[in-house]
Amino acid sequence: MTQDLSYHLHHIDAAVRLLGGFEGCRVLEIGGRLPREVGLGTYKAAEWLCVDFPGYWHEAYGASGHPEVAYDGPVESAVSGLAWSSWAGSVLDLPQRFDGYFDFAFSTCAFEHIADVKGALSAIHRGLKDGGRFFLSAMAIWPSSFGHHLPPVFHDGIELSYANPPFPVWSHLLQDREGMAALLEQTYPREVAERILHFVYDSPHINRQFVEDYAEALENAGFSESRLGHVEGEEPSADILSRLVERWGPRRYSDLGVVMLGHK
Ligand SMILES: C[S@@+](CC[C@H](N)C(=O)[O-])C[C@H]1O[C@@H](n2cnc3c(N)ncnc32)[C@H](O)[C@@H]1O
Repeated sequence: MTQDLSYHLHHIDAAVRLLGGFEGCRVLEIGGRLPREVGLGTYKAAEWLCVDFPGYWHEAYGASGHPEVAYDGPVESAVSGLAWSSWAGSVLDLPQRFDGYFDFAFSTCAFEHIADVKGALSAIHRGLKDGGRFFLSAMAIWPSSFGHHLPPVFHDGIELSYANPPFPVWSHLLQDREGMAALLEQTYPREVAERILHFVYDSPHINRQFVEDYAEALENAGFSESRLGHVEGEEPSADILSRLVERWGPRRYSDLGVVMLGHK
C-alpha cells in the first residue's frame, strides 16, 4: 500500500531511541499498520501483528473508506506465529490467547481515535510480556488547536477538513454544538453544517480526551514504569486561553499530542 511515512518513521525511530529496538521481537501494532518492509525489514521484528478498526474508516470516510486495507480476518480469529498479519477489530478485543505474548506494543496517531483509552491500555498491558515495552502516540489530540480532526466534508466542490477547517482554530473547544451550528449556518447549507457538527461533537471517530485524561489512564494502567511525553503544538493567545480555561478549567492546551511509553 502507498503510505506517506513521514511522521511514522519519526515515531518508530523515537521508540527505538527511547526504549530499544524491535529486533527479534513480537510486536503488536495498534490502529494502522506500517509496511511489512519497515517492521520486518528495517527493524527486523520476528512477528508483527496489527489490529485496526475498520469502523473508524467507514464512519469518517464513508462506505468505501480506506479501501486499500485488506485484513487477514476479524481480531477474534487472530492467530500467532505469522510473520506479518493484520486483523480487523478493536484492540480491546485482543483474544486472551495473546496474554503475555508481545515484546513491544507500538502505535502512531491512533490513540486520539480510540474511544476507550483505559480499555485499550488494559488490553495492551494484558498482551505484553513482563518487561515488555510500549510506545503509543496520540496526535492531534482534542485539546489542540485543530483537535476536532474533521474528516473530509464537501461543499461546492471544496473539501473541508482538519487541514482546511470551516471554522477558526480552537472553535471546537470554545463553542458548544449550538454556538457552532449558528456559526456554520451563516456560510453552509444545513446538511453540510450538520455533517460537520456530527464529526466535531458526536462521532466516535475521535475520543475528545484531554491530556489529563491520558495521564490518569496511563497512571492507572498497571505498568511498572510509564511516562507521558508531550508533543508541542500551537499556543493559544492570552484571550483564547482565558476562554478555554473558563469553559474547561485549567488544563494543558498547547500540546499537539502525547506519547505514552514505558514497560510492563
Ligand atoms: C488516523 S488513523 C492512524 C493510522 C496510522 N497509525 C497512521 O498513523 O497513519 C487512526 C487509526 O486508529 C484506528 N483505531 C481506532 N479505534 C481503534 C481501536 N479501538 N482499536 C484499534 N484501532 C483503532 C483506526 O482504524 C485507524 O486506523
